[in-house]
Amino acid sequence: MSAPEIRPATEADLSFITDIYEHAVRHGTATFELTPPDLAEMTRRFRALMDGGFPYFVAAVDGEVIGYAYAGPYRPRPAYRFTVENSIYLKPAIHRRGIGLLLMQRLLSECEARGHRQMIAVIGDSANAGSVGLHRRCGFEMIGTHPNVGLKFGRWLDTVMMQLALGEGASTVPSDNA
Ligand SMILES: CC(C)(COP(=O)(O)OP(=O)(O)OC[C@H]1O[C@@H](n2cnc3c(N)ncnc32)[C@H](O)[C@@H]1OP(=O)(O)O)[C@@H](O)C(=O)NCCC(=O)NCCS
Repeated sequence: MSAPEIRPATEADLSFITDIYEHAVRHGTATFELTPPDLAEMTRRFRALMDGGFPYFVAAVDGEVIGYAYAGPYRPRPAYRFTVENSIYLKPAIHRRGIGLLLMQRLLSECEARGHRQMIAVIGDSANAGSVGLHRRCGFEMIGTHPNVGLKFGRWLDTVMMQLALGEGASTVPSDNA
């Protein structure tokens, strides 16, 4: 496989992204969604992120999108405005080839450039070694585990919270400091 291109996502990528996420919803525990969103819903979500000024990247090889990562609001209340939550999904066939790391590095540098100060990973399933390992590799600290907060495939599932300070983090206060 040739080296993937990491580039901003466009609406033309969303059919690939919808398929990648559908597989994760149907077969995985990283997401707690139970019904895969269709292309129209994924388009609505994409537009909401674009309208909010959030970054969204894809990894593409020979015109095919094989993974994606984006950041969105952590929580809607305005005091959270410098904190983002990330999301990253790859096609299963290409796990553990360094592509998740490439996507995360691009996402992190873009979030820093946009002035975000903290990134939170809310990882579905404490058995998700790939996601915990990737976030640790990117410098995220383990914050803790919410035990047994999800139920999927007949199994109680934890969420794992990890966090990374971006840019100046909490060492300075932005000029927008209401
Ligand atoms: C999580 C995910 C994005 C990781 O992407 P990836 O391309 O497989 O990861 P990479 O190959 O870039 O790995 C980078 C580093 O992360 C860590 N890592 C990745 N997978 C790992 C695993 N299964 N176990 C332990 N560490 C792992 C390692 O430190 C790795 O570096 P190394 O290979 O040099 O040891 C991918 O596995 C995935 O899409 N999983 C399903 C969806 C998911 O869980 N998304 C996260 C939602 S919070």
